[in-house]
This record gives sequence, structure tokens and C-alpha cells, in this order.
Amino acid sequence: MPALTYTLLREDGDPGSRARLGRVETPHGGFDTPAFMPVGTAASVKGLLPEAVGSIGAQIILSNTYHLLLRPGEELVQRMGGLQKWMRWDGPVLTDSGGYQVFSFADKNSIGDDGVKFRSHLDGREIHLSPERSIAVQNALGADIIMAFDDCPPAPDRPEVVEATALGPRHAVPDAEYQARLAQANDRTARWLARCVKAHQRPADQALFGIVQGGIDLDARRQSVEQVCQHDLPGFAIGGVAVGEGFDQLKRVTEHTAPLLPEDRPRYLMGVGYERDLVTAVRAGVDMFDCVLPTRNARNANAFTPFGQIRLRNARFSEDERVLDAGCDCPACAGGFSRSYLRHLFIAGEMLGGILLSLHNLRHFQRLMLDIRAAIRDNTWSAVGRHWPVTLAEGPG
Ligand code: GUN
Ligand code: ZN
Repeated sequence: MPALTYTLLREDGDPGSRARLGRVETPHGGFDTPAFMPVGTAASVKGLLPEAVGSIGAQIILSNTYHLLLRPGEELVQRMGGLQKWMRWDGPVLTDSGGYQVFSFADKNSIGDDGVKFRSHLDGREIHLSPERSIAVQNALGADIIMAFDDCPPAPDRPEVVEATALGPRHAVPDAEYQARLAQANDRTARWLARCVKAHQRPADQALFGIVQGGIDLDARRQSVEQVCQHDLPGFAIGGVAVGEGFDQLKRVTEHTAPLLPEDRPRYLMGVGYERDLVTAVRAGVDMFDCVLPTRNARNANAFTPFGQIRLRNARFSEDERVLDAGCDCPACAGGFSRSYLRHLFIAGEMLGGILLSLHNLRHFQRLMLDIRAAIRDNTWSAVGRHWPVTLAEGPG
């Protein structure tokens, strides 16, 4: 048995869509695709019991090499029996490789061909993360899916100009400096991937996914696909998105890149996103997603609804007797907790507020994925637009 199997169950009947219905099996169980993975950065989906995460419909969760390597250290997790056993999540787990997180969290960093040097955001300790080290840490943590150590360049400083023409948007050529950075990231990502493949000690029970980079340059994306897909890996990810490029570029890049990836392997769009991003990417042929939005926004008192987000701290909810979403079956909505009461919990600093809202927001995303999977199976995409007007709306861009 390989570490991971992907079964393509159905291709979308909608001629405008490349969406796929599938099933992934791992040593810790399976999940239906397209799938949304809640984020449990430090081996915990903040505030939620694992069984609650499962009960709202999540079948796989994501955790982070960067955070666990700093605290408590991968060797401790290994001695405690591995991530799944230790955190009492009895399902599949995916760990990200850490390179990307270094840029978001670390105090200082320098990037070279050998890897990334950074100072821990916890105690200032200098840490060196290389392809070999990232894979060794992920081998010790023991997730079912592990990610290659990649170089993810930021979006261009000056976003490329998009001019509207009679024939549609015209994309200006990105500047030379940006293109040089993309070429460097592609080559580094390709060399690092070869080192990750070589360093991987548990191919029999951990599936290593390669990550495609290339920014918003479609030729660079194609080149990265060619480099990364040289390796016969059980799955492939599209990285380097959701770094500030905006919806139009995310759509353009995903529609270009996803179809270039092997049909018989799962395709994972990293760090995405809003509801409209998910629908767009599924229709481009993407199978897996992760994002902190539902849980992070929940802790900031932002509730997702089919019509858009509502900010519960707003005074207009102080005597609103309605639940967050009458069509939602989460513990907050089905339990009858009013917007008025939930607002009070946040204003009073009661932890139940973040817990109930995390459950609601995660369930919102899982219900959207359920509807998306039903749409692929039964040709009911028009119902997705009707049930989730937010997926059609003009977003922040
Ligand atoms: N999470 C979101 N985007 C990325 C990416 O490009 N690379 C990695 N490793 N993780 C990500
Ligand atoms: Zn709800």
C-alpha cells in the first residue's frame, strides 16, 4: 500500500468546470474531495475538542512544522507517539513544511540556497531550516501528508497593472526584478524538492507533496509545474498564492496551473481562502484547501454567513434575537444561541464566544464544501450560487 491513494470519482458535467469529486485514503483514514482543512497550527484547532472538529464535518486537519519544531520540539511529539495520537485527533493530518511560516512569524531571516535562517518568535533563538531539516521534523511529527520545503516569493511590490479592454482584462508584463525573483524561487524550490525527496525516510506511510511556485507569471507557473512534476509524488500543491495578489490574479493563476498538474493525484491550493476563492478554484480543478480564516475570524468576533461576514461586536446586534444563520446546523445556530448573546460573550471576554463562533465558521465552510461536492455529483451548481450568494458577490478583490 502506498502512503496515499487518490480515487477520482467523477468529473464535473458542467462544461465550464474542471471540478473533480474524489476520495483520498491515508493511514489515518480518508477524506472526500474537494476538501477544506481546518488549521491546527500548534497541534490544536484553537479552542475546539478534536471530536467537535470532526462533528462539524472536517475529515483532515493541518498543522505546522514551524510552530511545533520551536515548541515543544519534534522529538517530544515523536516520543509521545506522533501528532495524531498525542493530540487525540484520530484522522488524517497534513503538516506544512515551515518555510512559508518563517516569513510570516520569524523576527529576522535570511534565505540562501541551503535554507532559511531565522530567529524564533518565541525566544529569539537562531534556527536553521533546510529541506533536510524540514523533512526530518515532519518525519518525526508523523503526519499523513507532508509538504516539500519551498521558496514562496511575496506578491510584487507594484502590483502589475490590469487594464480592462474590450476583449477582457489585459495583464501587463510584471517587472524584471519580480521575474528574476520568481525564477530564483522556482529553481530553489526545484533543487530543494530533490533534496526533500532524498531526505524523506517514511515514504511508505507519509505522502510527500511537491509545491509549485511561479507567482502571477503564467510562464513561470508552467516552468515550475514541469520542474516539480519531474518527481513521481502522491500529490501536488499550488503555493505562492494568497500572498496579496487579489482575486483576479488568484483566479487567473489557478485556472492556468491546476489543469497542468497530473489528473490522477490530488491538487492542493495552499492558504485559500474566501468562499468565492474556493468555488473558483474547485471549478479550476483543485481538490484540497486550508485556511485560517474561519477560526481566526471567529476569535475576532467575525461570523461567516451565506450573505457575507458579520461583525458581532457591532452594537446593532446587541438585541438581535436571531441565530447567526437560520440555515446552519452548527452547535451555535442549532443550539439557539442568539447574535445578542454571542455579542455579549465577546464584549465580556467570555471564551465561549470564540468557541461557538469557531464551530459556526468551520461548519459554514464544511457546508459549502458539502454543497460543492453535491454540485459536482448531481450537476447542481446553480444551487451553490443560490445558497451561497457570497460566492458570487464582488469581494474585497
Ligand atoms: N501556505 C500558503 N502558501 C504557501 C506556500 O507557498 N508554501 C508553503 N510551504 N506553505 C504555504
Ligand atoms: Zn452556525
